[in-house]
Amino acid sequence: MGGVIDFIDMSIHIASLFMPNPTMLASGILGMSAETLRRAADSGAGAVVTKSIGLKPSSGYPNPTVIQVKCGFLNAVGLPNPGIHKFVEEIRMLRDLSVPVIVSVFGFSPEEYAEVAGLAEDAGASAIELNLSCPHVKGTGAEIGQDPRMVKLIVEAVKGSVKKPVFAKLTPNTADIVRLADAAVSAGADAITAINTVKAMAIDVETFRPILSNRFGGLSGPAIKPIAIRCVYEIYEAVGVPIIGCGGIWSWEDAVEFMLAGASAIQVGSAIAVEGLSIFKNICRGLAEYLARKNFKSVREIIGLAHKK
Ligand SMILES: Cc1cc2nc3c(=O)[nH]c(=O)nc-3n(C[C@H](O)[C@H](O)[C@H](O)COP(=O)(O)O)c2cc1C
Repeated sequence: MGGVIDFIDMSIHIASLFMPNPTMLASGILGMSAETLRRAADSGAGAVVTKSIGLKPSSGYPNPTVIQVKCGFLNAVGLPNPGIHKFVEEIRMLRDLSVPVIVSVFGFSPEEYAEVAGLAEDAGASAIELNLSCPHVKGTGAEIGQDPRMVKLIVEAVKGSVKKPVFAKLTPNTADIVRLADAAVSAGADAITAINTVKAMAIDVETFRPILSNRFGGLSGPAIKPIAIRCVYEIYEAVGVPIIGCGGIWSWEDAVEFMLAGASAIQVGSAIAVEGLSIFKNICRGLAEYLARKNFKSVREIIGLAHKK
């Protein structure tokens, strides 16, 4: 990176996962093939998360599925995916990747989540991220992830079927995200990812109709960052496991803000559509320069600093 910032230790551990830097590719953004995941890793991501994968193939919803709104993106893609039996081929192709490959999974019951996670682990996943938070598919994601009892049952089932670390990705579409985090951690989650998109909607004033084919979708991008920061801050005060912050991260300043709130690592999603994959290196460079300027030697020293009285 050049000069004094070379002496900053940017590495981080999430459970037993070693990451050379705290940036990750968020689920659903370029995570559908080994080739795009490898590109994200080669571009400097400290870990990559796949698109959420279920037991059976699904084509998702008809268009329009993603639209740009003033403050970010609105999507209801409907969890299109090839199914885990096909996707294991992509996971196997990434066995030589120098950074962790985290496979995001979803299911329609605890047993289904556990089955998909088991197959992902056998294929070589470094960790499993449970999508307990997609706001636009019936019978999975946020629909079951808003219920702490379901969160507990799913995490317990998956922890019973895999040895690799399990991350619970939570929904902000709830009155109390801390209850969800508590439920996940009490069931053995090794880390919490916060947050997925915020349930939202847009209507076309000419046709009088909702724009997304699914009517409702998930809002991502700058609009949700303050919500995500609040969630990470609250969860940090309640649980002892690492938190992975996500939501509207566009710059190194955003990454720092999440880490001060309590995130050990951060995921970048929508910003990649606008800034491209160079965002990982840009965030790392800015973060290292900030740490050097503030006289920190390791990125780990700023995690949760905003909580210090
Ligand atoms: C088009 C699109 C597809 C997504 N697909 C998934 C998915 O399959 N699984 C998941 O857990 N999150 C998914 N997400 C949510 C992102 O991983 C992330 O949590 C969210 O977009 C907030 O981060 P951002 O503001 O950086 O995009 C998706 C987001 C977008 C925009």
